[in-house]
Amino acid sequence: MEENNTPAAMQDNQSVEGQDSQEAQPKKKRGGFTSKIGFVLAAAGSAVGLGNIWRFPYLAAKYGGGIFLLTYIILAVTFGFVLMVAEIALGRKTGMSAINAFKKLNKKWAFLGVLCAIIPIIILPYYSVIGGWVGKYFFTYVSGGGMSAAGDSFFNGFISSPWQPLLFFFIFVSVVFVVVLFGVEKGVEKVSKFLMPALVVLTIGVTIYTLTMPGSAEGIKYYLLPDFKKFSVKTVLAALGQLFYSMSLAMGIMITYGSYMKKQDKIESSVHQIEIFDTGIALLSGLMIIPAAYAFSGGNPETLGQGPGLMFVALPKVFANFGSVGGGILGALFFALVLFAALTSAISLMETVVSIVIDKFHLSRKKSSVIVYVGTLLLGIPSSLGFGVWSAVSVGGMTILDMFDFLSNSILMPIAALLTCVFIGYVVGCRNLTDEIELNGPFKFKKFFNVMIKYVCPICIAAILITSILDVFGVFSI
Ligand code: PFF
Repeated sequence: MEENNTPAAMQDNQSVEGQDSQEAQPKKKRGGFTSKIGFVLAAAGSAVGLGNIWRFPYLAAKYGGGIFLLTYIILAVTFGFVLMVAEIALGRKTGMSAINAFKKLNKKWAFLGVLCAIIPIIILPYYSVIGGWVGKYFFTYVSGGGMSAAGDSFFNGFISSPWQPLLFFFIFVSVVFVVVLFGVEKGVEKVSKFLMPALVVLTIGVTIYTLTMPGSAEGIKYYLLPDFKKFSVKTVLAALGQLFYSMSLAMGIMITYGSYMKKQDKIESSVHQIEIFDTGIALLSGLMIIPAAYAFSGGNPETLGQGPGLMFVALPKVFANFGSVGGGILGALFFALVLFAALTSAISLMETVVSIVIDKFHLSRKKSSVIVYVGTLLLGIPSSLGFGVWSAVSVGGMTILDMFDFLSNSILMPIAALLTCVFIGYVVGCRNLTDEIELNGPFKFKKFFNVMIKYVCPICIAAILITSILDVFGVFSI
């Protein structure tokens, strides 16, 4: 992409020109992606991040390996496909970002735009806490401490210390803030065209290595072969939340991206490409991390249940096999690339939140950025401290970070997705959107889309949500 094509960056132009111009003259003042591939790359750039590399493997490990993988893939090609098509079409049809798109089509549904806006506000702080952890590992490797990172107590020692995780979190958010404030995403995006493929190549290399490690075979089986006994509603809820998170769905992001898509570009095939890219990287990351964790724990499944720390514990042990120099270089390179992927996603999250503040409160871009920066720092502190000095604060065994994660991914996003389906299926009518999709050729999955949006998605999401909420309140156990 030659131009700064992130929706948020384009939104910025619009905010400078006139904050509420979005509603008055949506088509005139908006920029656009210059090509379909530009659109796909920008959307995939926002989608690929810590969700794929850090979150997917630990959820797959926790929720039964193969059965989680299978559930995820089924949900991706059904719910994921339909929702991404719907959001992009909604954005392109209205020419507006989420907060105004729903309102434009029906005033009474303005609240759904607000709900979508709340979700990135919740995600950004704790996403940055994990980004800080990645920063710490990068720093450790660069300063020659790679071998110590492979030690058993390194990760827990780090996250439970009071200051260090906070310091790295502050640095991470500050870098994101500086990029957003000075609007230099263009540079970041240019570099990302090289660094993202480098990350994929390195991940493939490390995966090939871990797959040949003694003891990894059991882990490969665990990850790839579904064990139906491990299936439960919780598996579906976790996979669904992960799907939304990873593909940046149910939080208005894809609506904004769609609003900048050209009318002559094909929505359906773009969605296929984004999905293949995003899911491919997630599956690969699981294949890299889970067998490694298995091999190093002597096949102890308990290790797999360790949650957010999985990547940070398993990979340094893999790198340590290459000795202090080779492992040091490998570790530094790997964490540098993951850090970069985390930064690009966090930048797109912060851009989104900043443009919400600009639109809602009519503040300048500078003021809005500072407010979002300070807010992110304040909201992230509890998540960071929740592994150390505030570890006593927990609900149902969840740390503070887990609570934010659960609230956004397992409660708010499914609700937003459910309401989006109801809105499209029963308020706007599927026809309105399928017409938009068919502007440049037939929509192959039109019937499937209609049935999914009107019946399958809302009913299934409602059922999953209700059962899991009843489970949380102990009405019955699933
Ligand atoms: N999809 C990103 C990931 O998987 O890491 C997370 C994310 C980034 C969500 C940017 C939303 C967003 F705007």
